[in-house]
This record gives sequence, C-alpha cells and structure tokens, in this order.
Amino acid sequence: MSAPRRNVELKATDPDPERSLAICLELGAEDRGVLVQRDTYFRVADGRLKLREEDPGGAALIQYRRDDRPEARESRYRIVEVEDAETLRAALEEALGTLVVVDKQRRLLLWEGVRIHLDTVKGLGSFLELEGVAPEGSDLSGEHDRVAQLSEALGLDDSRIVADSYSDRVLAAEGSEELIAAARAALERAYAPYSRFRVGVALRAPDGSVHVGANVENAAYPLGNCAEASAIGALIAAGRSKIVEAAVIGDGEEPCVPCGGCRQRLRELMPLDAPVHLGAAGGARSTMTLGELLPRSFGPEFLP
Ligand code: THU
Repeated sequence: MSAPRRNVELKATDPDPERSLAICLELGAEDRGVLVQRDTYFRVADGRLKLREEDPGGAALIQYRRDDRPEARESRYRIVEVEDAETLRAALEEALGTLVVVDKQRRLLLWEGVRIHLDTVKGLGSFLELEGVAPEGSDLSGEHDRVAQLSEALGLDDSRIVADSYSDRVLAAEGSEELIAAARAALERAYAPYSRFRVGVALRAPDGSVHVGANVENAAYPLGNCAEASAIGALIAAGRSKIVEAAVIGDGEEPCVPCGGCRQRLRELMPLDAPVHLGAAGGARSTMTLGELLPRSFGPEFLP
C-alpha cells in the first residue's frame, strides 16, 4: 500500500483577499493563476473522500484525514489521477452516496514549498488556506515554521482561523436552509386570528431531527402560546431534550426575534453559543447566538 503524503494545513476566513494577494506577491510568492474547482464529497466510514474536478486541469480522487483543530495541523492524503470522472462519480454516488458538493474558485500561489490558496467558496465567502507540503521523512518542523511565518505576515489571528472544512460548512449552511424552510412551513399553519402575526419555529436536536411549532392564540388572549413553546413541546414529546440550532420566522418585513420569555425557554435546552436564525415572512434574515440574544442569563446550572 502506498503511504499517504503529508502536509501542514491552516485555514482562515479572508475579509480582504486583494490585500492577502498583495502580501503574498510582496513576499515573492509565485502566482499560478485561478482554478475553478468542484469537489464532490462521498459518504465514507472514515476521514474524507472527494472527487475533485478542476479547470484548467483534470480530475482526481482525494482521500484524506485531518483533525478539526483551530491551528496548523497535519493532513495525510492520497491523490489518484482520474481519467473518467463522470463514470467514477456515478459509481461512488451509487455505492456510497454523495455527502455534499463544494464549488470554489481558487487562486493558487507557491511560496517556499507552501501552497497558498485564496479561495472563494460558493455560499460561504472568502478564505485563505496554507498548505506546507512535506517531503517524505520530514519531521514537519520546517513546514510548521514556514506556515507560521506566512500566517504572521498575513495577520491570521485566532479570530480568523477556522477548524472545520468547507464541506462541513456547506453542509451546515444547507442544514440551516432546511431548518428555516421548516419554520416557514410551520408559520403557514399558525393559529393567530387575533394578532394576525404568525410565527413558525423549527428546532434541531443533536441527532439532526427537526421539531416545529407555531403560535396558537386564544379568544381569552393571555392563554395564547408562542411558537417557541409549541416547538419545544413537540421536541420534548418526540423524546429529545437538547437543541443545537433554532429558526424563528415571523410575519412582517423585519426578522422576528423571540420574545424575552421564549429566549429563556430556549435557554433551558440550548447552549449559549448555538445559532438562532431569525427570519421575516418577507424574506429578511439574520443569525445570532442564543448568548447574544440573552446575555448574562440564568440557567439550570445555577441551581444546586
Ligand atoms: N409570538 C411568538 O410566537 N413568538 C415570539 O417569540 C414572539 C411572539 C407570537 C405570540 C402572538 O401569537 C403573536 O406572536 C403576537 O404577539
């Protein structure tokens, strides 16, 4: 079996790709131009497996394994040149299933054996990737040094470094779209004849399951239920007790924020760093963490 190749990788968000490019060129990096890449990730038992189709260039099957850590880390990979990408994609799709497709534009630069990727990823934005490619037998210290040198020159501080992969991020974004769509569908079923303000909520449990609720009003006004309370009831009745992501959609033009009481309801079951997507039936959207919506909050851990 051929041993995997190795490199030292660091990934970061890039708010200013033009500035990054200027810094790289200033350092004397060689500009290899722009590549259009489509990576199809397949469902596999271990690590990652993707078919890369590149223009200009050809296709390759890439198997790799890397820890998700917010620092420069080792990646072990194998690259197999592929002649008939279409047939291979069909075969793997049928046998394994496709996990996610990532489309990006990559500007490739080379500096002292480090590949610099200035990436624009569809649906995600701009990122910068450093890959210190290791020759066989390397103890990786030189690769770590050169990646650290570049990282400093490019100003990659902790706030910009990313631990996960593009595929995880695209998957999460697709999952969020699904959750928001589920909240929107629940809004359509709301019972709000008095306020005429419909709210739909969708909650994701750690196992990926989605639980929805809508507001339910009453002629005796104070008896009305918020959509969050309905959704939490559905989640609990389905045997779940934790929330990892929430979407709240309300009528109107502005994204609907949960009322104070419902922020506390969510707080009972949801970590403070988990995302809450806020949406308007009219289309406007934003995302905040529960901690941003409910700072310095009281929760179950305060009780003895
Ligand atoms: N509402 C919710 O369902 N959730 C919130 O967080 C804000 C308010 C509902 C309650 C009522 O039926 C309508 O919106 C107007 O207040």
